[in-house]
Amino acid sequence: MTDASNLIYVLNGPNLNLLGTREPEIYGSDTLDDIAGMLEDRGRELGLEIDLRQTNHEGMLVDWMHEAQAEGARAIIINPGAYTHTSIALLDAAQAIKTPVIEVHLSNPLKREKFRHISYIGMAAAKSILGHGAKGYLMALEAVAAGEI
Ligand code: DQA
Repeated sequence: MTDASNLIYVLNGPNLNLLGTREPEIYGSDTLDDIAGMLEDRGRELGLEIDLRQTNHEGMLVDWMHEAQAEGARAIIINPGAYTHTSIALLDAAQAIKTPVIEVHLSNPLKREKFRHISYIGMAAAKSILGHGAKGYLMALEAVAAGEI
């Protein structure tokens, strides 16, 4: 049976289903399945259960954030892709729930085009991890396990 206090939602936004082949010089060669496997392996050691999902739809991310709270999840790790830079709805969702949110980006948007410099969800995130590639997701998991957030 699932103990929800050990449940971590790992939410991924648009185009992240293409990881592995999508601009590997920017995002690396790990696929989302590779990342899920890494997180599940480490999660098992830490006693944390990983629920990793991907969608290309903004409202789905909002629904899943609400669901994480309703399920009593310990934390949400989220890479909202381009919605990072546009979505007040995701910011509102992060502010509306008590479940802590960690923002992860494979690349460092602050070192890229100016339109990527704003992060709406980052305004409500307990922590932001930028530019560490797939390892950034593991760093987020470690932060949860360490009780840092
Ligand atoms: C990204 C950075 C965003 O600017 C971009 O739109 C993405 C991926 C990252 O993980 O580096 O889709 O979130």
